[in-house]
Amino acid sequence: MIKKSNRGRRRRLTDPIQARDSFDATESKIAIAGHPLHAMMVAFPITLAFCTFAADGLYWWTGDPFWPRVGLWSAGVGFCVGVLAGIVGTMELLAVAGIRIRSASWTHFILAVMLLSMLGANWIIRLDDAEAAILPWGALLSMVTAGMTAITGWHGGKLVFDYQIGTQPGHRDPP
Ligand code: HEM
Repeated sequence: MIKKSNRGRRRRLTDPIQARDSFDATESKIAIAGHPLHAMMVAFPITLAFCTFAADGLYWWTGDPFWPRVGLWSAGVGFCVGVLAGIVGTMELLAVAGIRIRSASWTHFILAVMLLSMLGANWIIRLDDAEAAILPWGALLSMVTAGMTAITGWHGGKLVFDYQIGTQPGHRDPP
C-alpha cells in the first residue's frame, strides 16, 4: 500500500544500463560498408554443422565410405571458420559499447564458445579414423552439435532483430 505522503509523487524506476549514453551505440565496427563481417561468416559453421550430421546419417543408412570423408571435411572446415567467426564476433563485442553493455551479448558468447568446443571435438575424434568414429559417438556428437548450432544461431538472430545489435539505428539511404 502506498503511504498517503507518497501519493502523487511515485518515483519511476530507471534501468541503469538503459540510462547509459552508450546504450544505443550498437553499430557494427567490424564490418564491410556497414555490413557486419560476423553475420557473413557464421553461415559456414551453421551449414557445415548440419552437413556433418547429414553425412553421418547417410553413412549409417548406406555404409558408403564416401560419407565419413564428407563428415571429416565438413566438421573440420566448420570448426575452423567457426573459430574465425567467433574471433570477429568477440572483437565486435569488445569494441562496441552498446553490444558490450547488454547481457544478451554475453549469453550469445557463452553459447557460442560451447558450440565451438563441440564443433572442435567432433572434428578431432574423426582425425585418426573417420569411418570408425561415426558410430555411435560421432553421430551422437553431430546430433547434439546441430541442436546447439540451431540454438546459438537463433540467439544471434535475436541479438540483431530484438536488440538491433550490429545495425545502424537511424541510418537512412540517401534519396
Ligand atoms: C565466440 C564468440 C561469438 C561472439 C562474441 C558473437 C557475437 C555476435 C554479435 C555481436 C552479433 C550481432 C551482429 C554483429 O554485430 O556482428 C552476432 C550475431 C550472430 N551470431 Fe554470433 N558471436 C559469436 C559466435 C557465433 C557462432 C559460433 C555462431 C554460429 C552459430 C554465431 C551465430 C550468430 C548469428 C546467426 C547471428 C545473427 C546474424 C544476423 O542475422 O545478422 N555466432 N554474434
